[in-house]
Amino acid sequence: MGWGIQNRLAQLIKSDGHCLFLPVDHGYFQGPTRKLEEPSKTIEPLLPHADALFVTRGVLRSSVDPGNTKPIILRVSGGTSMAGKDLANEGITTSMEEAIRLNASAVGISIFVGTDYEHNSLVNLAKLVNEGERYGIPVMAVTAVGRELGKRDARFLALSSRIAAELGARVVKTYWCEDFETVVKGCPVPVVMAGGPHADTELEVFEFVHDGMQKGAIGVNLGRNIWQNDFPIAMIKGIRAIIHEHASPNEAQDIYESLKNN
Ligand code: 5RP
Repeated sequence: MGWGIQNRLAQLIKSDGHCLFLPVDHGYFQGPTRKLEEPSKTIEPLLPHADALFVTRGVLRSSVDPGNTKPIILRVSGGTSMAGKDLANEGITTSMEEAIRLNASAVGISIFVGTDYEHNSLVNLAKLVNEGERYGIPVMAVTAVGRELGKRDARFLALSSRIAAELGARVVKTYWCEDFETVVKGCPVPVVMAGGPHADTELEVFEFVHDGMQKGAIGVNLGRNIWQNDFPIAMIKGIRAIIHEHASPNEAQDIYESLKNN
């Protein structure tokens, strides 16, 4: 691995080998997602507690202070919307030149295995990796499931994650699921977990994050279950304790409870 890629990965993944990425990229196909309507208001208070921000160039340029930020993972795929026919029909929307200009530490792209656009999205990933490797920029692949949340089982996620790694992704973002160890074991590059839609309880989130870490994930790329919570700072601190301080789910819940009214 070249020095540039190693250095960029070291900015994203902390010295304990773990990471807490904060995704705020949802608007690129969902529009003004609940509690992300004004991105800067969501991002600013949470940024000190995140290891990196996953964001599009539009929100980065408009809503993140360049003098006071964290490493950036730039979302570079898109071109679809919730109102359109098929979320899977994404292309590459942001050039590698732009990623370099914006001083991104990595770029992120979704792949849509099992859809009509599987081939396009996988070839896009491979092309992005070719370019990223040329300039020392790691690629994070996002194993998307579109609207079909039922697809979040170990067999499907292991398939998608392994393919992403085989095509050269340096990090794979996937969902936690039952038998998550199958996903991690079959994926020869680091795996981070997304959160998915807002869960019913905080403990549910702390439990799956903890379970995923025990089963080999290096961290999370977790958005809505942090910033759609009524107490987002308490939530991110609870999750951070699991990722970087080996807290149990109950300890994370205690942190959440003690901070939420402050
Ligand atoms: C949106 C994404 C998000 O980055 C990813 O889904 C993580 O966010 P959340 O925890 O809210 O699911 O790729 O397309």
